[in-house]
Amino acid sequence: MRRFVVLGHRAITSADFKLDDLSGSTGRLDILLRCVNSAFFISHDIRRDVEITLMLLGEPRPPKTVRIVGSEVKYLNPDERSTAALIRNALLQRPSGEKRTSPGIYVSERSYSEVLSNISKESQMHYLKEDGEDVRQCAFGDDNTFVLGDDQDLTDEEEKTLMEYSPKKISLGPISYHADHCLTVVNNELDRRRNASLR
Ligand SMILES: C[S@@+](CC[C@H](N)C(=O)[O-])C[C@H]1O[C@@H](n2cnc3c(N)ncnc32)[C@H](O)[C@@H]1O
Repeated sequence: MRRFVVLGHRAITSADFKLDDLSGSTGRLDILLRCVNSAFFISHDIRRDVEITLMLLGEPRPPKTVRIVGSEVKYLNPDERSTAALIRNALLQRPSGEKRTSPGIYVSERSYSEVLSNISKESQMHYLKEDGEDVRQCAFGDDNTFVLGDDQDLTDEEEKTLMEYSPKKISLGPISYHADHCLTVVNNELDRRRNASLR
């Protein structure tokens, strides 16, 4: 299992946005949408062993947490607009607990610390950070969780919360990449290691 947790620091927490203006009036929800694309899509298929949790932390009613489960998801297409429509539909809900809003898509008002505490203790935690250990030197188990920021790094407080889970700090390379590109690189690294001879 691969799990990604992406912090959308200003991402809109209501359904009050236009699909024609995803990068303008949504608190950069477009970045999270591209992360969904990078998490799941391969040529002609969807990765079923991936789950992504989008933390929407912007106005007007933070937090909203959207979890997409690859093994269950339907109606997910590679274009940002249709994924935005699925998320907008999820944001129309006022869930108590976590609510399924379409196959494989769940919305809740769980906080970032609740999200982290709900992750299986079996999962190895990783903090994606430019100054971490080179990913190419890292060994991975079968269940991995990766936490990263959107166009902003984790705040000191978010970092402190994550540190309670003793994550391994991992660098994907010497320069700072877009969040969605980080997911692509992680997927590629783990794909390569799936072949036992490359472990
Ligand atoms: C676009 S970056 C955030 C802003 C960026 N740190 C900057 O200085 O402009 C988004 C997130 O991707 C992750 N990230 C970006 N480049 C990375 C790298 N080379 N190695 C590991 N994580 C990286 C970090 O979690 C970062 O918070």
